[in-house]
Amino acid sequence: MSAPPEPGPAESALLRAYRGQPVPHTPVWFMRQAGRSLPEYRRVRAGIPMLEACRRPELVCEITLQPVRRHGVDAAILFSDIMVPLAAAGVDLEIVPGTGPVVAEPIRAAADLARLRPLAAADVSFIDKAVRLLLPELGGTPLIGFAGAPFTLASYLVEGAPSRTYATTKALMYGHPALWHDLCERLAQITLEFLRVQVSAGASAVQLFDSWAGALSEADYRRYVLPHSASVLSGLADLGVPRVHFGVGTAELLAAMAQAGADVIGVDWRTPLSAAAARTGGTRPVQGNLDPTTLFAPWQVIEAEVKRVLADGAAAPGHVFNLGHGVLPETDPDVLRRVVDLVHATRPR
Ligand code: CP3
Repeated sequence: MSAPPEPGPAESALLRAYRGQPVPHTPVWFMRQAGRSLPEYRRVRAGIPMLEACRRPELVCEITLQPVRRHGVDAAILFSDIMVPLAAAGVDLEIVPGTGPVVAEPIRAAADLARLRPLAAADVSFIDKAVRLLLPELGGTPLIGFAGAPFTLASYLVEGAPSRTYATTKALMYGHPALWHDLCERLAQITLEFLRVQVSAGASAVQLFDSWAGALSEADYRRYVLPHSASVLSGLADLGVPRVHFGVGTAELLAAMAQAGADVIGVDWRTPLSAAAARTGGTRPVQGNLDPTTLFAPWQVIEAEVKRVLADGAAAPGHVFNLGHGVLPETDPDVLRRVVDLVHATRPR
């Protein structure tokens, strides 16, 4: 007798929670679950620059699967980077280990915009290949696609490197609003195309990372950023996949970020999930939000914090457990495995 067919991603705990449906257990995955915390990642990445690794479908497939195998998480997230579509659209950039994205010629003036051509699906055919390699390996485990939101991408393009203040980005935004909006419209097109390629190839959900939007006041966010993120999110509506919207330090922006059109709100560790749910109208599932540095604490502390986050998440119409930002490279992978087991063993309410 043959085994019953494995349930597909649509019936998975992750997608059920993202849709606000009852779940057998709280689903869990970790931002940056693939990466330097895993020795098997460091092994396969040795000597291969980050962007080059992202363009090799077999390697992308292997790295994406590593945390799924090791941790038993409820989702895979495609191994890539928010800068990948910009490089594919002609921007000369590098991802420097220990620093982050570095852009050779930052965008500061109207003439610089010519360096940012529209993205075509063919520019990122390696993504389509990687996703198609992954799907049979994943069985019923859903794959999350992702991209950077226009503000976060613009911050790297304008600053030229990671920034603490975003002073150059904000100077351009306030001083040259027409140029700013032109830049963000181009970035929205690139991001939307990048996400559509991932979903067309088989990703079951998407996450829009506006990691650095927390640098903005709510008024500036609404004026300079929200319309562009909203155009990305509405451009995905016909695909019918859950759309998660996440940023860091966004306590004051959560309502506005929800209004940009996301189905699920990602929350950093500063805002309790119950407060995030209330601020976004109490209608949307939430994702988060264990402080990633908690994973360096004694197990009893971690256990108590995981339980607190789970109890707090029960206030929302759905909860997907995650960290409040990415896994830090120094994290012990065995601790992540224990967290997954604890989340799965705790009854959802
Ligand atoms: O979550 C996952 O497992 C998927 C992989 C993923 C990566 N980047 C791989 C990566 C995701 C979702 C991203 C998104 C990303 N990239 C964001 C948004 C998420 C966030 O963290 O807020 C941002 C801001 C970037 C830009 C970027 N790329 C940074 C700041 C860095 C770190 C630089 C460093 O060395 O500290 C990168 C490089 C990067 N992206 C790595 C990985 C695994 C490390 C590269 C390496 O192994 O050398």
